[in-house]
Amino acid sequence: MTIVILMREGVQRDKLSVAARILKKGGLVAFPTETVYGLGADALNESAVRRIFEAKGRPADNPLIVHIAEVEWLEKLAKEVPEKAWKLAEKFWPGPLTIVLPARDTVPRTTTGGLDTVALRMPAHPIALELIRLSNVPVAAPSANISGRPSPTSADHVIEDFYGKIDCIVDGGETPIGVESTVIDLTSEVPLLLRPGGLPVEEIKKVIGEIIIHPAVKGEKVDIPRSPGMKYKHYSPNAQVIVVEGNREKVREKIDELVEEYRKKGFKVGVMATEEHDADEFFYLGGSVEEVARNLFKALRELDRRGVDLIIAEGVEESGLGMAVMNRLRKAAGYRVVKV
Ligand code: TXA
Ligand code: MG
Repeated sequence: MTIVILMREGVQRDKLSVAARILKKGGLVAFPTETVYGLGADALNESAVRRIFEAKGRPADNPLIVHIAEVEWLEKLAKEVPEKAWKLAEKFWPGPLTIVLPARDTVPRTTTGGLDTVALRMPAHPIALELIRLSNVPVAAPSANISGRPSPTSADHVIEDFYGKIDCIVDGGETPIGVESTVIDLTSEVPLLLRPGGLPVEEIKKVIGEIIIHPAVKGEKVDIPRSPGMKYKHYSPNAQVIVVEGNREKVREKIDELVEEYRKKGFKVGVMATEEHDADEFFYLGGSVEEVARNLFKALRELDRRGVDLIIAEGVEESGLGMAVMNRLRKAAGYRVVKV
């Protein structure tokens, strides 16, 4: 049975304590964060964490992010906390930044996907923070989607994937950022960006200087994935996806050309873009990169729901939040990218 707790008007502690009790007892609770919905379990309870992997159909070697509500937990979960980690936590937590550090032995290796490192994040969402505080445990939470599907930005998306399969869903409305957190690995000399996300890498550089961007981030083939998440299929709707990127005017023309070409072939074609296009189905992504990020996963799910065979997506400029947007889009397309 899945309990759905409606909490659209801000934190309600009495209701949230029901969800916290479920977490404490080893249950699975989906909850909103500022990025996407997470599927949470007590990070220190191995059997609870195992249930996350089962529910998502997630490979056991793909580690989970551990969510905390107090900065003191950094030292309780990480073996060493370098100066740069303190600086980042101070500046950006709570917020859409995940920091990878050497793990203490108290963190189950089920949670870390067998690695000796742990990914930590303090989410900037009042419901998430209060839920973690009330449960009084660190909360392991991947995005609350079936593995490989677009991440959930509303409780409806979570219900779509998990109703009847998890214990509780806290419905806090739509998530404000819409793409997952930025993941940065601080276990080597120079910090390594493993996943672009809600916090632009430019902002992180201002605080800790040089950062190496992992080649997989921009869609290059990697032989040895540094982050297990890199090697798995991601964000895919049922429809095929093509991303068109480059010069704005040319992108516009190319999208229309592709729509025509594929409709002739008998495809039902959907377009998601920042300007209107004539297609079988159309999803307006918004006028700013923030809006595009917020609408991205919803657009993929929505066009799927409308039964299109092919989604043609307009690319955005790859700076700021745009880096996360392009990373997700290219992955959703299985790197089927048209450059103009
Ligand atoms: O915004 C977010 O980060 C959301 C919300 C719920 O907090 N969570 C999320 O989790 O996106 P998930 O599991 O979908 O993505 C976590 C990513 C994966 O790519 C995983 O491989 C990587 O973080 N990761 C986790 N622990 C790691 C570690 N110890 N070393 C390297 N990468 C790690
Ligand atoms: Mg995910």
